[in-house]
Amino acid sequence: MAQNILLIISGGIAAYKALDLIRRLRERGHDVRVVMTPAAGEFITPLSAAALSGHEVHGALFSLTEEAAMGHIELSRSADLIIVAPASADLMAKAAQGLANDLASTLLIATDTRVLYAPAMNVRMWLHPATRRNVAQLRTDGANFVGPDDGAMACGEFGPGRMAEVPAIIAAAEAMLQQGSKIALPGSAAGPLKDRHVVITSGPTFEPIDPVRYIANRSSGRQGHALAAAAQAAGARVTLISGPTALTPPQGVHVLAVETARDMLAACHIALPADIFIAAAAVADWHVAHAGGHKLKKGADGPPQLKLVENPDILASIAAMDEGRPGLVIGFAAETEQVIAHGKAKLQRKGCDMIIANDVSPASGVMGGESNSVHVISTEGVDSWPRLDKSEVARRLMALFAAKLRDQRP
Ligand code: C5P
Repeated sequence: MAQNILLIISGGIAAYKALDLIRRLRERGHDVRVVMTPAAGEFITPLSAAALSGHEVHGALFSLTEEAAMGHIELSRSADLIIVAPASADLMAKAAQGLANDLASTLLIATDTRVLYAPAMNVRMWLHPATRRNVAQLRTDGANFVGPDDGAMACGEFGPGRMAEVPAIIAAAEAMLQQGSKIALPGSAAGPLKDRHVVITSGPTFEPIDPVRYIANRSSGRQGHALAAAAQAAGARVTLISGPTALTPPQGVHVLAVETARDMLAACHIALPADIFIAAAAVADWHVAHAGGHKLKKGADGPPQLKLVENPDILASIAAMDEGRPGLVIGFAAETEQVIAHGKAKLQRKGCDMIIANDVSPASGVMGGESNSVHVISTEGVDSWPRLDKSEVARRLMALFAAKLRDQRP
């Protein structure tokens, strides 16, 4: 679906790629408005960007004619997505601090439209602790990133810092457009989880065998997505780390889309710190060693022998964190027999605070279904709930977690 995109071009040698980005976005039917920082003007001309976008290019914060035609704040509010490409270290630093001393930084702070940054800078600038801090802050504030890529840089050095290629930026932008255009501003809702950050893993993982095949499972992601909606309704800021699903995430929830268990773990560490961490994903236990860059071929040697390697246990590793462990760490246990016994064993083994155990035997219809009957297992005992809609399970669980968290407060 055609959408309104605001493209902010900041200074850097990669600015020339932004011109191609405008062209490709328009080919896909999107309307593109362009803002250039003064530094971007050292690399490309506003005239080229105007010709390609079909609109006047904005650059100045205070311009009488622009104010009359369209208030500058309106530029970012009316957009369905903001792309910053290339995103310079300087502009990201301003955005992370909430500065508003030029048009680009003002637009970024004057809106709750989602932002995709495609950073481009010298490798040392990208790796500098100040940039790492700013990127982490922007992520916490709900921004998404694509790239930078590794490679030889225009400045002669090698490493991460090259702007992502245009097709990758478009893929990331369109994925975000499908997820809704607004970030949840912290503290924007009232409720028992107001000012709390809840991180939820959801859905299956896809573990590649080769570039076209993968190992997956039947998880629909419904329970995890329902938990995200319930946490948001309870007033929390929510980060949903989702494996591939057919579901549309709740509006306002910050989504990190992942495929593999290893990516899911990395995304969890990007999303932390959190008050509550909920592992509702059906994470694959194994991935295929040396999943190659080429499609495996049938041949005279017979079928390929796949070697499986254990995946990281995301829940156990977050429950075991010394520093920055979320106040509540919750796991799910999907079992086909001895549900409570296995759930209790999992509580011990994973080191989490609570296990929500459910029966996923084919007869139960839970996997991929609308309802669920759960057993809430903690060191305090087992509470078995009746069969309920997954959204009702999520709502009741969130009320329980909020109460537990409240009890923890000194
Ligand atoms: O797969 P298993 O039954 O061990 O899953 C129990 C819990 O552990 C679930 O909450 C699941 O999300 C989590 N888990 C995980 N990382 C894994 C395996 C499971 O976080 N590698």
